[in-house]
Amino acid sequence: MDETALQRDFDATIDADDRIEPRDWMPDAYRQTLIRQIAQHAHSEIIGMQPEGNWITRAPSLKRKAILMAKVQDEAGHGLYLYSAAETLGVSRDELLDKLHTGRQRYSSIFNYPTITWADMGAIGWLVDGAAIMNQVPLCRCSYGPYARAMIRICKEESFHQRQGFELLLTLSNGTAEQKAMAQDAVNRWWWPSLMMFGPPDSESTHSEQSMRWGIKRFSNDELRQRFVDASVPQAEILGLTLPDPQLRFNSETGHYEYGDIDWSEFKRILAGDGPCNAQRMAHRVKAHTDGAWVREAAAAYADKRAAREEGAA
Ligand SMILES: [Fe+2]
Ligand SMILES: [Fe+2]
Repeated sequence: MDETALQRDFDATIDADDRIEPRDWMPDAYRQTLIRQIAQHAHSEIIGMQPEGNWITRAPSLKRKAILMAKVQDEAGHGLYLYSAAETLGVSRDELLDKLHTGRQRYSSIFNYPTITWADMGAIGWLVDGAAIMNQVPLCRCSYGPYARAMIRICKEESFHQRQGFELLLTLSNGTAEQKAMAQDAVNRWWWPSLMMFGPPDSESTHSEQSMRWGIKRFSNDELRQRFVDASVPQAEILGLTLPDPQLRFNSETGHYEYGDIDWSEFKRILAGDGPCNAQRMAHRVKAHTDGAWVREAAAAYADKRAAREEGAA
């Protein structure tokens, strides 16, 4: 088939809301967009292990430690599903990690903020994983099959992450005055960065329109952000905590909560590398990769040995 016919088949699949699979022809720009998005997503999962991994040894009880360990391990798993999904598009995991380590691909800027107190484990679960779910549930219907299928499992695990964070904050909020203040302080610090996780406003979002047409993106940044605000306000009331936005109010005409201006200069500054933890996160990641080289080499040597043995037997 010539390129026009292939393009026509691709467009028909997208229009019918069917899935594109790795064996199918796809326009190069679609492939490159997916590689960039899935890689950035995978990088965010594994870098996201660091702010919370930091607290595993200091969890206040055996139960909290077990929950936190399970959550951090889940994030490693999410990274693996997503790197595997990216590999179906013709890139290798080595290549993607190299791009991360040399600053040619990004991860979510939220993970460049420090985790200062134990309550941050609650605020991250409730708000950061909560925002991630809002972003990710529509991706379960993404037009690219392997990405959509990875997201179904990831979303189930993210909902556990969100609930454990909410429950942690609820416990602190109903604890001593000091514990409640710690929970409030964590929410104050994580609220605005969580709103930034939905990306720049629609008016400035460069890739959005094409991604919508390709069925990669289903809702705009601002739509998803609004959903998140609408869901979070009543939850904050149950927690007995306030959200740090004096302009937050319910608009009975639109049925939505209005919120104050987001400081996009902070977002851009952190994205450009000048956040409180950018350098620390990257240094830690590169060191973990270097320290793990012998494991990858041993696994590859074992696979070779096995293949040779099987060949001999055949
Ligand atoms: Fe995750
Ligand atoms: Fe998560």
